[in-house]
Amino acid sequence: MFRVNEDYLKLPGSYLFSTIAKKVSAFTEANPDKKIIRLGIGDVTQPIAPKIIESLHNSVDEMAHAETFHGYAPDLGYDFLRNVIAEHDYKRIGADISADEIFVSDGAKSDSGSIQEIFAHDSKIAVCDPVYPVYVDTNVMAGRTGVYDAATGKWSNVIYMPCTLENNFVPELPTETPDIIYLCFPNNPTGTTLTKEQLQVWVDYANKVGAVIIYDAAYEAYITEENVCHSIYECEGARTCAIEIRSFSKNAGFTGLRLGFTVIPKDIKSGDVTLHSLWARRHGTKFNGAPYIIQRAGEAVYSAEGQAQIKEQIAYYMNNAKIIKAGLESVGYKTVGGVNAPYIWLKTPDNMTSWDFFDYLLEKANVVGTPGSGFGPSGEGYFRLTAFGSYENTVEAIERIKKL
Ligand SMILES: Cc1ncc(COP(=O)(O)O)c(C=O)c1O
Repeated sequence: MFRVNEDYLKLPGSYLFSTIAKKVSAFTEANPDKKIIRLGIGDVTQPIAPKIIESLHNSVDEMAHAETFHGYAPDLGYDFLRNVIAEHDYKRIGADISADEIFVSDGAKSDSGSIQEIFAHDSKIAVCDPVYPVYVDTNVMAGRTGVYDAATGKWSNVIYMPCTLENNFVPELPTETPDIIYLCFPNNPTGTTLTKEQLQVWVDYANKVGAVIIYDAAYEAYITEENVCHSIYECEGARTCAIEIRSFSKNAGFTGLRLGFTVIPKDIKSGDVTLHSLWARRHGTKFNGAPYIIQRAGEAVYSAEGQAQIKEQIAYYMNNAKIIKAGLESVGYKTVGGVNAPYIWLKTPDNMTSWDFFDYLLEKANVVGTPGSGFGPSGEGYFRLTAFGSYENTVEAIERIKKL
């Protein structure tokens, strides 16, 4: 008789977004005349830029003719895309990454969830708290995290690194030594970043203790400040300890198209074995390549026109971020983020819990955000608003919050 993977049963359930949906639909049913504004979503709302659409049309047409038809893509990605990524995202900023160290995929969620497969079963992971839930949950599914304590919201075999106002959202080096360290900067949910010097501390630490950093840079395109790294490979020594994961979702609106990539330098080794070779083996066995038309669309992102067009979209979202941040601060909220990221993380007023503040905002301002406690125990007492809405809705939502 078949048995299920019992590690899946340990997961506490997708409580956060289902609870939000239930609360919002109950409110809408009771108040059909109220216009709800959603500033909780992590999805983009602007359409795909014209240059990228043009490329999609062209490559769709190529599929209609035997001479230009494309079947299975190379497992690790087409050279036209890997070369332009290496050139634009790495060589141009002085980072020593070559095209054959780039693995093209269908997005950062799959990669950040699957990367744990190439590490030993008894590896110890360290995560920032609050955190993008995929890192912990995929390690739970793999049976690596011990038992869950509902009272503390923590797993017994995970090292948590709190990021709060008290430490200015800069995680401290753990006292217990991890094998795998997940870092995400600019951060979801807090919108905060590390300076180059602060990131260098982590790279030095990982090299010293023999850990690997899995660096999720999905929001890299939102960085505006000079002293914030766009890539971890700007830090010295990162080639021997860091894997970087990138996405086309937030910089170019590919949330529905699906494209991303992971960089694994050949210098990260355990004995004679490179992580690069294991991920190549994994990709070859479990992944049949991102679609040709989507990789061509990704290539168009790097064209001069594509770059200009996506920069406009990012500026649109970052203008929303500025409105949210300035509006909240003008009425006394303490906020972080919104400068190098499309997320604004606010401290709830009067020591309200994250969920109390969610209810308060929904009922009094008809605005939906995301309770910080849903991202980890240290998110309690915080709340996330996102800049991915329309300008008009963002302005209206903030005006309503200011009047509370
Ligand atoms: C930190 C982080 N990593 C990865 C992703 C997923 O990216 P993708 O759409 O490429 O799967 C998200 C999406 O919200 C995210 O916030």
